[in-house]
Amino acid sequence: MPIILPYDDENIRRAAEDLRAGGVVAFATETVYGLGADTFNPDAVRRIYELKGRPLDNPLIAHVVDAVAAKPLVTEWDHRCDKLASRFWPGPLTMILPRRPEVPRESVAGLGTIAVRSPIHPLARSLLYAFGGPISAPSANRSGHVSPTTAQHVADDFPEAAQLLVLDGGLAGFGIESTVVDLTGDEVTVLRPGTVTLEQIRRALGRATAVVGVEQGIAPGTSAMHYAPRRPASVVPAARLVEALASSPAAAAVLCLTPSLVQPPHQSIVMPSDPEGYARRLYQALREADQVRVERIVIEEPPERDGIWIAIHDRLARAARRGADG
Ligand code: TXA
Ligand code: MG
Repeated sequence: MPIILPYDDENIRRAAEDLRAGGVVAFATETVYGLGADTFNPDAVRRIYELKGRPLDNPLIAHVVDAVAAKPLVTEWDHRCDKLASRFWPGPLTMILPRRPEVPRESVAGLGTIAVRSPIHPLARSLLYAFGGPISAPSANRSGHVSPTTAQHVADDFPEAAQLLVLDGGLAGFGIESTVVDLTGDEVTVLRPGTVTLEQIRRALGRATAVVGVEQGIAPGTSAMHYAPRRPASVVPAARLVEALASSPAAAAVLCLTPSLVQPPHQSIVMPSDPEGYARRLYQALREADQVRVERIVIEEPPERDGIWIAIHDRLARAARRGADG
């Protein structure tokens, strides 16, 4: 099993040494746990892909302490980047920009662009400071599985990675992956919705900048197979929940907002009704649903569709689409 380490100075130093020696380290961020390596060490980065079973054409996010540390990775940093960084960094926003040629191809899956993000979680920041350079890190789950929001989730996904250090920063407070925005064109495109919302990005950039959202499946790595639990899952509105549960004898774990609609043999996992709480709990709940003795997962569809709920609906659709997309 991987080695779960509590967050203290000594363990941060130990993990930073691992990174300097070309190792891979898992660590808490405010969104989900990351599986990190030195951005400038192609062999170390390759090891991330091996561990995760990640397709080689899916690029990684480089984590940096701040905008000053991001600039050496990119060729263009304009007023839009300044506005977004000053409003949302450190925090759960990732910017895609043209990359410098010195960045190894392995870290960006051969693309001419790079994703950069400055996390706000104190553990992630301590690790970045101790290491002293950018850390490339995807979510610390096996490729295609639900992202991890606790250290134990990471250990559960990599039971055979005996030397893997997992820096434990508790339950990830935001709970879903960062908002990804593409700034390589005149329009700003939100490739992956997150807890930094389209509205907030529009407000930060001002009316002169066009900001558009994108349908799922366009950005590399945003394929519908991502973030799926192991059991088949479906998303059902409250009005059809009783009928959907009665339609099959197979017991279901139900991520519900209205527990009174769920009766044995089905098992309810009650979700918070506020979007921040729902997002924080979602991946943990999906992993719990995979562990109880049921054959399927049913998710009561949250009725709201604005703000952070957009990102939640995106992740629910991905969780439910696994079967359909193979
Ligand atoms: O919150 C997060 O973003 C977490 C934590 C660990 O920071 N990381 C994360 O990484 O979710 P990952 O690899 O699971 O998701 C990164 C997403 C993928 O969909 C990837 O395809 C996209 O960002 N991405 C990365 N670099 C890109 C690039 N140069 N162009 C387009 N998309 C890119
Ligand atoms: Mg991921």
